[in-house]
Amino acid sequence: MAEIVLSGIRATGKLHLGNLLGAVENFVKFQQALAGNTCLYFIADLHTLTTLNDPEELRGNLVEITKDYIAAGLDPERSIIYAQSSVPEISELSLYLSMLQPLGDLQRIPTFKYLVRKQPDNVTLGLITYPVLMAADILGPQATLVPVGEDQVPNVELAQALARKFNAKYGQTFALPDMMAQMIRVPGLDGAKMGKSEADNAIDINAPMGDILDRYLKKGVTDPQRIRATDPGDPYNRCESVYAVHELVTVGETEHREIANACMAGTISCRACKHKLVESLANILEPFQEARAALANRDDYVKDVLHEGGKKARARIVETVAAVRDKMGIVLY
Ligand code: TRP
Ligand code: SF4
Repeated sequence: MAEIVLSGIRATGKLHLGNLLGAVENFVKFQQALAGNTCLYFIADLHTLTTLNDPEELRGNLVEITKDYIAAGLDPERSIIYAQSSVPEISELSLYLSMLQPLGDLQRIPTFKYLVRKQPDNVTLGLITYPVLMAADILGPQATLVPVGEDQVPNVELAQALARKFNAKYGQTFALPDMMAQMIRVPGLDGAKMGKSEADNAIDINAPMGDILDRYLKKGVTDPQRIRATDPGDPYNRCESVYAVHELVTVGETEHREIANACMAGTISCRACKHKLVESLANILEPFQEARAALANRDDYVKDVLHEGGKKARARIVETVAAVRDKMGIVLY
């Protein structure tokens, strides 16, 4: 069956290694593997407003993330790449959906509860309706497959529930989106999820490889029980920042298994192990950085991609929204 794949990333900052390995590489795979299918990848600039209120930064991040998307292999000819705000009907759909959404469910969403604790002075209506806007992102283009990180599962479930509720009340309108919550967890330098904590734990995918090596050498948390390089280590359970990334980027089962064996036998130092990791990362990041550098002065091209992608996404979404208006009794005179 042909799928309509959809996913988005907020424009809170430039992409880091966690976004690249955990999300964007997956987006590229869908684009390549699923011939005949449609992929929609967007930058959720409206969602960004719930936590970021620096207009310059938001405008800049949007263009920079689009460059990262393209440099990582998303092809504007094969995927629809757009900014959420380029399709104002998404916001309109969010309002319609909000009429079917009990408040209590939204108050129980873990990300909401987390942000209430984290930013108690900024608990806005926009923050609590975040999942409803996300449902509009998904249901507007009739997405059938939504790849997301583990933390987004409750939000996608809410979108599924809204689709079911709307269809039951007004007749078949929305496709029921399947979720694919299998994205990889990439640990940051401190072992926590990369980019998540306040700690400065992310790896900038545009940094020179030498700087990335320095960061791993200085800040990468490894097995604390390895005092000397000859002490046996436990790569699977006690190495918080390095081994899990080896598993993701060091090509071939055997090669990262060898590293694990050397760690357990105490025949490799953490320093040497980090050097190896950064060599593996270079194989991925150097081609990316080259493609990214070629886009550095091509803002006009990137804005054009967003403009064209916006038009394509909008053409799909306006159809759904017209049907929704009609079913709910709204007439545009
Ligand atoms: N909330 C998602 C995140 O923070 C981003 C997002 C917004 C999204 N709308 C979406 C993801 C729709 C998938 C589908 O990661
Ligand atoms: Fe981690 Fe490598 Fe050190 Fe083992 S040798 S603890 S896998 S950094």
